[in-house]
Amino acid sequence: MTNRIAIAGASGLVGANILKSALERGYVVRGAMRQPQKAAAVLENLPGAAERLTLFSANMDEAGAFDEAVEDVDGVFIACLIPVYRAPDGTPATELDDQRGFREIINPTVNGCLNIMRSAIRAGVRDIVICSSTSSTNPIPAVAVKNEVDHWSDADAQCAAKKYTSATKTVMEKAAMELAAAHGVRLRILLPTLMLGPMVLPAHGEEGFMGAIRRMLRGEKGRHDTAPNDSTSMAHVEDVAALFLAAYESPTAEGRYYAVKQSWHWNDIYRALGEIEPGMKLPQLFEGEQTTPTGFDFTRRDSLGVAMRGLPEILGDAVNWVKANM
Ligand SMILES: NC(=O)c1ccc[n+]([C@@H]2O[C@H](COP(=O)([O-])OP(=O)(O)OC[C@H]3O[C@@H](n4cnc5c(N)ncnc54)[C@H](OP(=O)(O)O)[C@@H]3O)[C@@H](O)[C@H]2O)c1
Repeated sequence: MTNRIAIAGASGLVGANILKSALERGYVVRGAMRQPQKAAAVLENLPGAAERLTLFSANMDEAGAFDEAVEDVDGVFIACLIPVYRAPDGTPATELDDQRGFREIINPTVNGCLNIMRSAIRAGVRDIVICSSTSSTNPIPAVAVKNEVDHWSDADAQCAAKKYTSATKTVMEKAAMELAAAHGVRLRILLPTLMLGPMVLPAHGEEGFMGAIRRMLRGEKGRHDTAPNDSTSMAHVEDVAALFLAAYESPTAEGRYYAVKQSWHWNDIYRALGEIEPGMKLPQLFEGEQTTPTGFDFTRRDSLGVAMRGLPEILGDAVNWVKANM
């Protein structure tokens, strides 16, 4: 196998980690995003970047914008399909009707993904790996143990509930699979949720739950006053990058793969954080009967051969990275 890849969204949390791991493995990488200048100083200083990384500016909203970035590569990773929570005029997605929900929330991401795929297909690429999300794998009614083959979210039900943002991933994956099938593309779709650990770009350590860990370490409120009676799935961000590259490198991998270690109740997450860093300002634990965390069938994920780190390692690496970058 040759080793020239393009990464759309190379400055993102996911994209930058794939980029770093790919450079470590000796890949030649073409990284694309709208504003490469914002991340260039960090990305171009990663080991191997001087010899093997080229950055490109490209906006997936424009057909053909990725033509140059995907020239002469063997595989394309798409990690720029970020959730859109508001219409361009600022209206929350949850307040739109179906017409606007599709036009302003769902279609831009679906069309952006297809624009990148079409650039890749025109360039002769037949290996594409997309970053989606576990939010596309929530069937109604819920199942005790879900898998990537049988279990899909119902986009119509999501739209009826005005969850246009969540529906986007479901609609996008199906459209990408259809385009891939029509052109003989071997498509892999990776499905992460929360990703924690060392960040390639410092800005990502300010966002999401990494930002909450930072605030709790400072003695401030993180995300919750009280742990919700709910669970979240998560993974070490470097394990997620390893899954992407394993899916790409596998001669047979195709279709959807979970990119999570497992799901934990928030009480267990906060208990583990308290053991790692007793001085943190943690929320009250939920008292009462705890809901059961989401169950996953990891047969397909495990077929990729990546050893996934557990909760103490995921949270420990996240805390240590934040402490070193306070
Ligand atoms: N972060 C999470 O916790 C999480 C959880 C589950 C799933 N995911 C999924 O993982 C994927 C990547 O998310 P992320 O968190 O890594 O995103 P991110 O950190 O916000 O990065 C997004 C990347 O895409 C680029 N980008 C955004 N809009 C673009 C456009 N129109 N054209 C070209 N490039 C564009 C951004 O650079 P520019 O702004 O310069 O264009 C950046 O490189 C998404 O599909 C997301 O749903 C993420």
